[in-house]
Amino acid sequence: MKVTTIGTGYVGLVTGACLAEMGNHVVCLDVNPEKIRVLNEGGIPIHEPGLDSVVARNVAAGRLQFTTDVDAAVNHGTILFIAVGTPPGEDGSADLQYVLAAARSIGQRMTDYKVIVDKSTVPVGTAEKVNAAIREELDKRGATATYSVVSNPEFLKEGAAVDDFMKPDRIVVGSDDEQATLMMRALYAPFTRSHDRLMVMDVKSAEFTKYAANAMLATRISFMNELALLAEKVGADIELVRRGIGSDPRIGYQFLYAGAGYGGSCFPKDVKALVRTGREYGQDLKVLNAVEDANDRQKLVLVDKVVARFGEDLAGKRFAVWGLAFKPNTDDMREAPSLTIIEELTRRGAAIAAYDPVAMSEASKVLSANPGVSFCERAEHALPDADALVIVTEWKEFRTPDFDRIKAELKQPVVFDGRNLYEPTLMKALGIEHHAIGRGTTTRMG
Ligand code: NAI
Repeated sequence: MKVTTIGTGYVGLVTGACLAEMGNHVVCLDVNPEKIRVLNEGGIPIHEPGLDSVVARNVAAGRLQFTTDVDAAVNHGTILFIAVGTPPGEDGSADLQYVLAAARSIGQRMTDYKVIVDKSTVPVGTAEKVNAAIREELDKRGATATYSVVSNPEFLKEGAAVDDFMKPDRIVVGSDDEQATLMMRALYAPFTRSHDRLMVMDVKSAEFTKYAANAMLATRISFMNELALLAEKVGADIELVRRGIGSDPRIGYQFLYAGAGYGGSCFPKDVKALVRTGREYGQDLKVLNAVEDANDRQKLVLVDKVVARFGEDLAGKRFAVWGLAFKPNTDDMREAPSLTIIEELTRRGAAIAAYDPVAMSEASKVLSANPGVSFCERAEHALPDADALVIVTEWKEFRTPDFDRIKAELKQPVVFDGRNLYEPTLMKALGIEHHAIGRGTTTRMG
């Protein structure tokens, strides 16, 4: 099939590359010429495990192209995915300007039947707006081309995006149009060969499903974080509690980890947008409001612990920070808890020596205005003369570090373990002062 993705970011690029992998001819369009230049020179503008080889293979096979040429891109695809950003507007609602601009650019050019797919995360009712924008552009030029608008929200996880796309748990298609449904089924058939994972539903339910999924996941995280705060006060260990409740299949083990708060390009904005939709319809979403508040508080929990240990004034103090990306296996810094934590520590006068396995380049852009931050090429380079180590992202390489070196290089062996990577009993045995999240057993030396 001929496919175009409009927007070549995390979702558009992965979608385009994975569809090309199944034999489709895909053109990926972006308005950012730098992104397209990098791709056309054989680079990948984002860090996503396995994506480089899928892209290279399909470019070499002539099935995958990158362009800024809107005419060529719209003309190419029979199925056009809109995969542009939907950042939060000032009032928290999803800003649809990029989605509607993409829709208009299609309407201004299309000459034959197209299936237009809303892949971006968009509020209920957006397909109707996309439909209206295209209709308006067609009417303006008196064109009669036919089209269908379907919703196909994306559930991939950054850091595992290629795997998630190639082996999806489910594919949700919201469609009120038989021809479009058939085409979407055909496009996704290679991804659902072992059993049919494609669910067709009405457009509004499909749009809603994406927000409901992210809201549910964010709720689990905030709920565990809140329980962790209490566990710490009552002297219980949230890690043991997690195992105790996760063994119940109704609860399950996944997404039950207490930590430094959720971030990223999706949960924060999608929670905000759903709260906003609730307000618009006169439905106060009390639980979700609390989820957001709890997360804002959680991003400060590590800072509170540092302040409790070293005092409010951190002038002259230096902290090693390991992990900057909002989660492991990505270089995405959007809404990363590390940003809040670093800002709060430097605001109090601290100097930060920061390290991340892949997000250094993104982080140095975002943190360039903060003179209190320096970047280290290796994790251990951040340690010398630091008053403590603060772990913010649970990269695998931080799980079993050289504890002797940590002890030797830090001014005093103090670790703020924002992702509960280390067992308090081990830290105690090693003589490391260990401040974890929700583990009533914090080890304080001396
Ligand atoms: P992104 O910011 O990485 O990429 C969006 C791309 O669209 C940018 O490269 C931008 O230059 C381009 N763009 C904007 N307007 C355009 C236009 N008119 N024509 C062509 N290109 C245009 O965004 P990301 O992360 O890929 O997210 C896209 C959507 O997918 C959002 O709605 C997001 O909520 C959703 N989503 C994101 C996931 C993720 O893990 N990043 C997962 C599931 C859904």
